[in-house]
Amino acid sequence: MSTHTGITEAVLTYQPPHPPVKEFEPPRDRAFFADPEKKSLLSAATKVKNLTPYIGTELVGVQLSQLTDAQKDELALLVAERGVVFFRGQDITLDGQHELTKHYGIQDRDPNQQDPRHVTILGNNNDIRAYSNFGGEYHSDHSQEANPPAYTMLRMVRTPESGGDTIFTSQTGLYDKLSPTFQKLFDGLHGVHSSEHSYINSLNSGYQPFRGPVRREHPLVRTHPVTRLKSLFYNPSFVIHISELKGQEGVHALNFLREHLHAADDLTVRWKWEPGSVAFWDNRVVAHRAIPGGYDPTTREGKRTAIFGEKPFFDPDSESLSQRIARVGGDPAKNEIVNLFFKSPHV
Ligand code: SIN
Repeated sequence: MSTHTGITEAVLTYQPPHPPVKEFEPPRDRAFFADPEKKSLLSAATKVKNLTPYIGTELVGVQLSQLTDAQKDELALLVAERGVVFFRGQDITLDGQHELTKHYGIQDRDPNQQDPRHVTILGNNNDIRAYSNFGGEYHSDHSQEANPPAYTMLRMVRTPESGGDTIFTSQTGLYDKLSPTFQKLFDGLHGVHSSEHSYINSLNSGYQPFRGPVRREHPLVRTHPVTRLKSLFYNPSFVIHISELKGQEGVHALNFLREHLHAADDLTVRWKWEPGSVAFWDNRVVAHRAIPGGYDPTTREGKRTAIFGEKPFFDPDSESLSQRIARVGGDPAKNEIVNLFFKSPHV
């Protein structure tokens, strides 16, 4: 969490060209249209590699440029279930990526995004431990918005030989690993998400943010509309307080949540990029961070596209991962995670 202000003349006089995005109801999540078994997509892969039990699947032998509409819907469901799905050696073009993104909903626009269709993601040579190191800290992309992004795709065009990896962590897993006492405490609370500090940082770094800063509350525990699983909706880049708590209670609760996230090696997948690699993640249930430093930042470039998600909501009747596993007949103690807990309730 950042505490600096960094107010300068440039910050005070800058007029962002676009107004804030108003809350709206996006089209129905494409994962609802998928065959729950995902037969069409999975049978097209030469290999389905679950990279860790809790998060991350690599589909080998699939070209995103060739997916049928049914396979695209099944991919949405797989992403919702596994948090992030990876591909290598993709031949999809930038136009193809825009078209594919449109299949999933209404294209989202990052506040710093100049091209309306994608964000260009570059390398970062900052010190990972530096103060206010945006991008290097875990985040969910612009979680402060009324409709934060859902499905998000990053395709790497150029990558360094080594360095610039991205880490993804399951917030469904993070919620699940809390004690029942902490789960009960956090259920129904609201995180205060703010982009004020990233806005100021952008201006002071010479960028021209497209929209002004936003401060907004979202449920600290959210329900995924398709899987109906509970996950934390926390990230240390944008969540600055918990509404229902007093000042120091909030500070310590956020410190705990940050440590919980940073210590979650069992809920994390680290992806090493190559040119033509793609990560497709569900920004609603995954926090991520690009690892900066140790490489020439001019050698890393990617194109990120995303769609607007629903307004985050909390359904007290939705389940934790362990409750789901137990309900569908698995034993959470045996870590029967893959292909078990994600039997979505609409099946
Ligand atoms: C992002 O934060 O969305 C970009 C991740 C990356 O650079 O790997």
